[in-house]
Amino acid sequence: MAYKANNKRYKKLEYRRSGKSGLLLPPITLGLWHNFGGKKSMTKEAKKMLFRAFDRGITHFDLANNYGPPAGSAEENFGKVMNSDFKKYRDEMIISSKAGYHMWDGPYGEWGSKKYLTASLDQSLKRMKLEYVDIFYSHRFDPLTPLEETADALAQAVNQGKALYVGISSYSSKQTIIINKLLKQRGISCLIHQPSYSMLNRWIEKDLLDTLKKLGIGCIAFSPLAQGMLSGKYLKTIPKVSRISDNSSLDKKMITQSYLVKIKELTKIAKKRGQSLPQMALSWVLRHQTMTSALIGARTVKQLDECLDSQNNLNFSKSELNEINKYAKEEKINLWATSSKD
Ligand SMILES: NC(=O)c1ccc[n+]([C@@H]2O[C@H](COP(=O)([O-])OP(=O)(O)OC[C@H]3O[C@@H](n4cnc5c(N)ncnc54)[C@H](OP(=O)(O)O)[C@@H]3O)[C@@H](O)[C@H]2O)c1
Repeated sequence: MAYKANNKRYKKLEYRRSGKSGLLLPPITLGLWHNFGGKKSMTKEAKKMLFRAFDRGITHFDLANNYGPPAGSAEENFGKVMNSDFKKYRDEMIISSKAGYHMWDGPYGEWGSKKYLTASLDQSLKRMKLEYVDIFYSHRFDPLTPLEETADALAQAVNQGKALYVGISSYSSKQTIIINKLLKQRGISCLIHQPSYSMLNRWIEKDLLDTLKKLGIGCIAFSPLAQGMLSGKYLKTIPKVSRISDNSSLDKKMITQSYLVKIKELTKIAKKRGQSLPQMALSWVLRHQTMTSALIGARTVKQLDECLDSQNNLNFSKSELNEINKYAKEEKINLWATSSKD
């Protein structure tokens, strides 16, 4: 049966403005990095997650050229849904893609050159069968390409109508200021920054958040659950069905004694707030005024629902925040740190 969106979908969530732009985003965004790939199609559960997300007011879906596996398949699979069940809702959706990491062999298949970014965006549009993406990102800072060239490529994407807005991901505060200026010189605004951020990875608090506020750029935090580490799943053992067991981006070396202590204590605080740990972790990320959205991943509809229910309790008392601060401390989990180093 054809999908029909829930007609109460806009009743529950409070949408947030991305910086000083005109664009409102949902407080929770669904990312398709893991669990939406596959050579022929995405799994039934993945498709259900897309529908559930949209039914619950999630208007923003985040992709990148290399999401899969295999690389490109998340966009292809998403394209199939876009061209069938989601087709009539295109104008209600914000779809993003990115280029920066390795996508194809040779000197033009990664980083920040105009050649790569332009070709990659064209490929993404083809895979998703879209005329334009809403947001196109430079996925990582490229220290060897002049930022002027990356800015040229992003501005061209907008000028050619292939992207409505542009963003950057994992740029340091200093490089954010520079590319923002370069984009302005080209008549384009930087809509949003996509950094990693969670209770176990707080690098953006040093200066990036202040910079974004000053510049009027939005912020969408990826891996707000630290890839699932901000849940109780690794407390006793490594479950067979989990990102660590998938042998992908999460390594069991990250399950350290210091990490386990933090999780136990944070879980107790969450319980007192009437939340699960993943829910508190999301509310906590969203406590900043500058935070536009928390960009989650999910394996099942059940996980997605639990994450969305975080919206039932977004307020923190001072004493709760102080208590959380005792345990919300860095673990060595920021896989993207090189990109944001000055
Ligand atoms: N710009 C970049 O460089 C960059 C990098 C990484 C990610 N991203 C974006 O950010 C998105 C999210 O990243 P992420 O998947 O790492 O985010 P995340 O939300 O930190 O982690 C998602 C994982 O957490 C677990 N999980 C989710 N809900 C749960 C719940 N209620 N209870 C217990 N476990 C739960 C699941 O892991 P299990 O599979 O173990 O169940 C799920 O796959 C990506 O899809 C992508 O769009 C961007």
